[in-house]
Amino acid sequence: MFQSCERVWINVNLATLDTAVEQPYGALHDQAIGVRGGRIVAIGPMVTLDRSCITGEVIDAAGNWMTPGLIDAHTHLVFAGNRAQEFEQRLSGVSYEEISRSGGGILSTVNATRKSGVEELVRLSEPRLMALMAEGVTSVEIKSGYGLNVKTELDMLRAARCMAERYPVRVSASLLGAHALPPEYRNDADGYIDLVCNEMIPAAVGEGLVDAVDVFCETIAFTPAQCERVFKVAQQYGLGIRGHVEQLSNQHGAALAARYDAWSADHLEWLDEAGVAALAEHGTVATLLPGAFYFLRETKLPPIDLLREYRVPMAVATDLNPGSSPLASLRLMMNMACVLFRLTPHEALAGVTRNAAQALGLGDDLGMLRVGMRADMLLWDIQHPAELACQYGVNSIKQRIFAGEEANV
Ligand code: NIG
Ligand code: FE
Repeated sequence: MFQSCERVWINVNLATLDTAVEQPYGALHDQAIGVRGGRIVAIGPMVTLDRSCITGEVIDAAGNWMTPGLIDAHTHLVFAGNRAQEFEQRLSGVSYEEISRSGGGILSTVNATRKSGVEELVRLSEPRLMALMAEGVTSVEIKSGYGLNVKTELDMLRAARCMAERYPVRVSASLLGAHALPPEYRNDADGYIDLVCNEMIPAAVGEGLVDAVDVFCETIAFTPAQCERVFKVAQQYGLGIRGHVEQLSNQHGAALAARYDAWSADHLEWLDEAGVAALAEHGTVATLLPGAFYFLRETKLPPIDLLREYRVPMAVATDLNPGSSPLASLRLMMNMACVLFRLTPHEALAGVTRNAAQALGLGDDLGMLRVGMRADMLLWDIQHPAELACQYGVNSIKQRIFAGEEANV
């Protein structure tokens, strides 16, 4: 198979993250890996490689490590304004919920976002996307949720799609209409959910702007019954389902999302054992967001041991947003997942590759170095894959490869 490759990396150690490779990190040493047409088409040990048969480009990786491209499976990176003054308030003792109930929080970002058009949203969001891409992100999930009306929700999704066209990155877009109750619907949450179900979702689907729906199931946002209405409509349209659940209290939103075969249930600090069992039963990924845990100075840990016991795949994501996680670094999240949540470095890497792909419904295509997968790959100047979760702040990427082509940022 190496004969027909457009490009072959030789002398490379692979952290494949492939479940079929029963080694930590799915490690394969001293390998060659070849690509054609944007996909991985050959992997094999150097000792059996006949170099003379390769007609494509050969890149000597000189013993460096290659991993799948990193996948950030939960971001709100399209927004306007900033909430640094709320950070000051919170440091002086006001809680995230108090700020939200007094009209700040998400609604303050909604005010700023509604004033911006698509181009302005792209301009404001590009540096955040660039920061993620520069440290190895090749796929990113981007949510709406700061418009809370049809026009601005769609503008946010248009901005996400626009960036996907401009840059070497895959974007999975989620409609998070049910993020907060907009002022126009005060005391009429059910009326607002009507708008989400009857107008926002159909309009977003009609324009091809959306891959999944998301909800915020919480006392300061929407009830399980309201979230379920959104899930039902999403299911009718064949969209993926995801949810912000069990972040500040246990509303049993994870079990609800799982019943709708959600791709992912996110946050999960208040998740109980029944919720963990439901995720396991339905193959729903648990997406952990250590940045929000850290930034809100949360003390309740997500039930990591139970998630392990029930073999629920764990993803790790930035939750990049202006209020609870203004932290544009997936590498930092890997480190926090280990230090704050006690994930192993292998679990952290699986959380931003294989399991993150599954959280986006793309597990058959992305997240592992395996023949047939898309060739989004990173070549790192590191001695061991554990360094990726251990060290933070040094850019150790030698080559960023997107769809089989070098695409450094
Ligand atoms: O994932 N939990 C709800 N949504 C975001 C925060 C959004 C914001 O504060 O702007 C989150 O933490
Ligand atoms: Fe979020």
